[in-house]
Amino acid sequence: MNQRNNHVPPPLKLGSLAYGGDYNPDQWPEEIWKEDFSLMQEAGVNLVTVGVFSWAKLQPRPGAFEPEWLDRVLELASAHGVSVDLATATASPPAWLIRQHPEILPVDVNGVQLGFGSRQHYCPSSPLYREAAVQLATELVRRYHDHPAVVMYHVGNEYGCHVPQCYCEISAASFRRWLKGRYESIEALNHAWGTAFWSQRYDDWDEIEPPRRAPTFPNPTQQLDFARFSSDELLECFLAERRSIEAIDTSKPITTNFMAFFRPTDGWKWSKHQDIVTMDSYPDPFDSEIALQSAMVADLTRSLGGGRPWLLMEQAPSAVNWRQINAPKAPGQLRELSLAMVGRGSDGILTFQWRASAAGAEKFHSAMVPHVGQNSRVWREVVELGRDLHALQPVLGTQTVARVALALDWNNWWALELDSHPHSELRLPELLLQFYRPLFEASIATDFVHLEDDLSSYDLVIAPCSYLVSDTAATNVVHYVEGGGTFLTTFFSAIVDPNDHIRLGGYPAPWREMLAISVEEFSPLEKGQTVSLGGILAHSGSTGSTWSENLTAQGATTLLHITGGDLHGVPALTVAPYGDGQGYYLSTLPDAQTLSTIVGQLLADTKISPPLPHQRGVETITRGEFIFVTNHNSHYVTIELGQSYTDLLSTNGPQTTLELPPRGVAVLQPTNQRGA
Ligand code: GLA
Repeated sequence: MNQRNNHVPPPLKLGSLAYGGDYNPDQWPEEIWKEDFSLMQEAGVNLVTVGVFSWAKLQPRPGAFEPEWLDRVLELASAHGVSVDLATATASPPAWLIRQHPEILPVDVNGVQLGFGSRQHYCPSSPLYREAAVQLATELVRRYHDHPAVVMYHVGNEYGCHVPQCYCEISAASFRRWLKGRYESIEALNHAWGTAFWSQRYDDWDEIEPPRRAPTFPNPTQQLDFARFSSDELLECFLAERRSIEAIDTSKPITTNFMAFFRPTDGWKWSKHQDIVTMDSYPDPFDSEIALQSAMVADLTRSLGGGRPWLLMEQAPSAVNWRQINAPKAPGQLRELSLAMVGRGSDGILTFQWRASAAGAEKFHSAMVPHVGQNSRVWREVVELGRDLHALQPVLGTQTVARVALALDWNNWWALELDSHPHSELRLPELLLQFYRPLFEASIATDFVHLEDDLSSYDLVIAPCSYLVSDTAATNVVHYVEGGGTFLTTFFSAIVDPNDHIRLGGYPAPWREMLAISVEEFSPLEKGQTVSLGGILAHSGSTGSTWSENLTAQGATTLLHITGGDLHGVPALTVAPYGDGQGYYLSTLPDAQTLSTIVGQLLADTKISPPLPHQRGVETITRGEFIFVTNHNSHYVTIELGQSYTDLLSTNGPQTTLELPPRGVAVLQPTNQRGA
């Protein structure tokens, strides 16, 4: 369980699946508020996040605290039975604070100080920012901790979204302190950073700077440590506020909203400090794989919370405003994607935002109440989704369990994507997606896991491009396989240690014996370049892209090999038994069909199958005793269920055959369980 020792998080006391979104009443005259709350009742909204960007309204000038307007909002919420996720309002410091202390403003990698006038214009290391944020959070919690509407605290907002790193002098000093804590001696730092190279040796801590814009590649370990430090500094901002809340109220969950696959903040480290893990998810409606993208984010969030229910904190009811071109969600797509998120463990659906803004940079972002008002498709779909969530009451608190996991470690992510590599365009989320795709298409629930964590609940672990592995992770994997696990890793894995130093003696050094292979030299492939693949798992026209390498099997069985070219006959996919388990190694990125065959083989080896007979374009996932079935096709599907189920979303009664329209969703409960 990914939780701090001895910390039992307080539950979210809503009693039903959450439904609602960010509510920004401070953008509207008070006459509108009453209408807002009666519309919320109409839509079945029971939770709104209030005050995320209200700092300047709450503290309009130095020393002032003017929360009376918020009193009135919370009273209205109470009167209408709507609960509140109270924001600490610290994501956008007010103009007076910046004028008083311009050193709060962040500085980018080029040394340019960023100005006031958008949001998140603060240096995460700034003591003045942290102090002012803690003071505001304290005032708010003191005033409202007993308020009957408040059920949860929402700290800051999307930490690092716009300013993940700051390179100012305050940050530089903080970076030095952080490095002293990590290395203790300057010699230890010199060793870790490999400063014998290019005359980079340091004699004194004060000589060290953040990796600012430099003539060429900055020291890789310096970059890696700066990524670690920057994630920790933002986490410190969150924790400072968290502590100030806990000093007054420990009865409600405290959270901050994460951002899908967001590289700057280490999700494993951060999620230990969330009472409930919450996520913002904005897949692009132009993307034909939007359902897959959405599912992958849901599975990540569930995994970050150790499998417990989580909460979708934000999504767009329709279009966003921040891509270059912003498509609306198609009719029915809000319901389709939202309910699938619930199937993957979310205890509710929240959006950004309740009422569409009339001014400001987000005025073209969709909302539950669009500019045009209630006579709109979006509003009708919003009301319908509220009804559906109400019908899914029995699902609340149940869990989604996976037997397959994909390896994800932020340290590896940062290190893998550093410059000066054999292939500098490897992107971890894209690589994970390649393996997630066939699992999603086969309706196999998948977790994400850190390779240092307990792997024993998984039958299959897939670790694409695990370039950086600690000794602990490397050994943990060997024990996992020894104990009967099936493990697949790929090219450019187990190459370096946490200092980004090569593990010498043939790649992937710590796993060579387990995999019964050795790699001598890399041959990365240019964009568009492929190698042909043959062997028992190949189809006619199988290819590999991105990478190839000079690999020798040292006892492993070859399932795919390269045909033609300089590496003709060299193994591309191998498998070897080890202990009670087996290790697969893949030296290239196969085309989608071949990869799907490989994943099919792994699933067959481990006897993992979907909850219902598989049908193309139909997503099935089990949560508790319920099976969520979503038809992502543009045609009707008929599914033979094999036993009697009742759909919580329909009035059809028990059925053994399910018919679903395009974008249709059913939530099946075994009929004999109902009313038990
Ligand atoms: C993020 C932020 C919100 C809003 C939305 C717009 O999720 O948290 O404040 O800006 O994006 O999509």
